Formats: sequence, C-alpha cells, structure tokens
Amino acid sequence: MTSIAISGASGKLGRMVLQSLRSITKQPLVLLSRTPDALAGISSSLEPRFADFDQVESLQQAMAGVDRLVLISTNAMGPDGIRVRQHRAAIDTAIAAGVSHIVYTSFLKADSSPLSLMTADHATTEAILKESSIGYSILRNAFYDDLARQFLERADHDGRFVHAAGAGGVAYVTRQQCADAAAFAVSDGFSGRRTLDITGRKAITMPELAELARTSRGRSYSPVEVSKEALVERMVAASVPPESAAMLAWIDDGLARGAGGPASQDFERLTGREPPVLAL
Ligand SMILES: NC(=O)c1ccc[n+]([C@@H]2O[C@H](COP(=O)([O-])OP(=O)(O)OC[C@H]3O[C@@H](n4cnc5c(N)ncnc54)[C@H](OP(=O)(O)O)[C@@H]3O)[C@@H](O)[C@H]2O)c1
Repeated sequence: MTSIAISGASGKLGRMVLQSLRSITKQPLVLLSRTPDALAGISSSLEPRFADFDQVESLQQAMAGVDRLVLISTNAMGPDGIRVRQHRAAIDTAIAAGVSHIVYTSFLKADSSPLSLMTADHATTEAILKESSIGYSILRNAFYDDLARQFLERADHDGRFVHAAGAGGVAYVTRQQCADAAAFAVSDGFSGRRTLDITGRKAITMPELAELARTSRGRSYSPVEVSKEALVERMVAASVPPESAAMLAWIDDGLARGAGGPASQDFERLTGREPPVLAL
C-alpha cells in the first residue's frame, strides 16, 4: 500500500494534516519531524522519524520507503536563502529515495505577488519542483485567518481600526482547510503536476471584515483608511516598534495591490467540501 509521509509533523499545520489524513485514508503514514518524541503516543500504528531539512543525512533515512510526501514549508526566515536550501534538500532527497509525488504548501501568487519579499522562497521552491522530474501538487495557500483577527486587534476603544489596504480583499483560509487540501492532494492518487489556489470563499475587504466582526462580536468596528505612511505614524504613536509598524504597513499596501486574492474554487474541486465561513 502507498506510504505517505508528512514533514514538519509536529507543527500546527502538520498535526492537522495528520488528523485529516487519518479521517480519509487507511494508507500507512510516516511522521517526519525534528522533534519526533513530541509525536510519540499519538498512535501505535504511526511511525515518527527524525527529519531535519538542515541535516541531509537524517532525511535519507527518514524518507526510505515513502511513496508520497507532504512537504510543509518551514518557518525559517532570513535573507540568506536558508528556507530554499531546506526545501531543496528535502526535494532532492525525496527524489533520490524514490518518492513519486510531493505536495508542497506554497503561498498565493507565489511568483507574482506584490509581497514578493514574502513569497520569493515559495516561488523558488516551486521552480525547483518544476525543473525536476517528480510529480507535484503545489498548494498555494492564502493568508491564514489569524491575520483577520490581528487586523481587528488594531481597533481602539471606539472600535476604529486604521488600515492602508484600500479596496484590497483577503481570501482568508483556516489551517484546517489547508490541512484538508494537503491530505486530499496527497492521498487521491493524482500522479501528474498541478498548482491549486487554496483560499476562502471570497476576498474580504477591510470594511467587510469590520461588518463581519460587528455582527459576530456584537461591538462596533469602523475601518479608517489611511496612507501607508500615516499607518506607520499611528502605530508608532501607539507604541508599536517602528520596524514592526513598517512591516505591517507594507503588508497592507501589498493587500491594496491584490496580494490577498482572488478567491478560487480549487479547494472545493479538490476536496468536495465548501470552504468554512470566516470565524472571528
Ligand atoms: N498562509 C499563511 O498565512 C502562513 C502564515 C504563516 C506561515 N505559513 C507557512 O506555513 C507553514 C506551516 O504553518 P504552521 O502554522 O504549522 O507553522 P508552525 O507551527 O510554526 O510550524 C513550522 C513548521 O516548520 C517545520 N520546520 C521548521 N524548521 C524545519 C527544519 N529544519 N526541517 C524540517 N521542518 C522544519 C516544523 O516542523 P517540526 O518542528 O515538526 O520539525 C513545522 O512543521 C509555516 O512553516 C510557513 O512556511 C503560512
């Protein structure tokens, strides 16, 4: 029977992929993690194996006998290309070990986003897959719905929250949705090459987010649109460190230029499920 491995299995998304896979398939599962002990005891039939993308020798053993792999993008940040090196090591080792299909968790508009600094590692990883001979399912996940709740934290005592996202919308996804997409993509037997956008039902603008929050939380939220510069000023005045304020304003500006959408039907086509309603 086809054996499926999940990298990063102890992370938030990794654990959800595992649970989702257990609910839809009986195929043998192999859990890869830098902290396999954290996964011991989940089930006696599951086999946690040590795997660190920074230690290639650990990957060779970890991927032995694996047919299909969910490659969860790591959270390594930095301008030195570390995340791409990690992903390349995982892909090269998987190919050498005879893995036939990789499901990679990429990011929406990986190669065309206005937030290219954020998505560049994903674009490069996608290119590595495309230049190889392996089958793949690239899942371009939209922003997690954590971001919506973070936006609402900007609201002051009057409920006003400033933003510089203009009319840009965000097609927020839940991690569970991304996990379900990965679980279906790795277990449905697809052996070709596909790139899917995993998004929520629609791209939600800041005024729409305010209205959703007002309805679900029963308090007032009023979006106030300002320029990117004014957003930085206001945040710094509210004690946000200047570097963080600049980063947050940069994201708003990227959303204004289309980085958060559009919504896609790919999740529904892949899983037969509707995307969940945004929960605030
Ligand atoms: N769409 C979005 O809005 C969004 C937002 C944030 C992040 N992301 C991406 O989605 C990924 C999963 O999200 P999450 O919420 O599950 O994050 P998380 O809980 O922080 O998990 C980080 C993941 O990176 C893995 N990892 C880190 N260093 C590694 C290494 N050297 N070798 C192998 N694996 C390594 C971890 O695996 P182990 O600890 O088990 O080894 C873990 O699965 C993130 O890593 C990031 O690339 C997407």
